[in-house]
Amino acid sequence: MTRICFVCLGNICRSPTAEGVMQHLIDEAHLGDQIELDSAGTGGWHIGERADARSRATAKRRGLELTSISRKVESSDFDEFDYLIAMDQQNFRDLKQMRGAWKPSSERPRIFESDCRAKLALLRTFDATAPNDAEVPDPYYGDGDGFETVLDICERACQGLLEYLGQRSHSTGP
Ligand code: 4NP
Repeated sequence: MTRICFVCLGNICRSPTAEGVMQHLIDEAHLGDQIELDSAGTGGWHIGERADARSRATAKRRGLELTSISRKVESSDFDEFDYLIAMDQQNFRDLKQMRGAWKPSSERPRIFESDCRAKLALLRTFDATAPNDAEVPDPYYGDGDGFETVLDICERACQGLLEYLGQRSHSTGP
């Protein structure tokens, strides 16, 4: 079983969206017995809340249900997940600071490894259309368009992530 946790700031907009998009792809590919998902936030303001109503409405128009309940990232997540996937550079820095030395792979997708189970990556390293170090922009304080953009990005990047996991399971195992 490969366990993946998507991480953003509030765990009510971007990471629940990535989780919902990826779950849909996993269900379509009948991989539910091989890949398990979760999401979390680096901030704790929305703990216990469902995903933002705007994220849920945008996802619903594309046939996706966002079911996550917000929680904060914990130190134990680094031992319980195979991948912690950050939405933006600040989330990524915050995750890196929770554990010691990280070493990046030299090529894209850029995956960082340390002495714990979890590897770290930015979601958009799996988005073939994105430049290096691209982020999923935070839609929380913006207008409705931002939520559509987040969905578009998550659909591309999660497709890339699924392909990456498939390639790994055919070579070294996940
Ligand atoms: P998210 O968006 O990180 O994509 O869930 C945000 C949600 C809430 C806040 C900021 C970003 N906030 O400041 O409460």
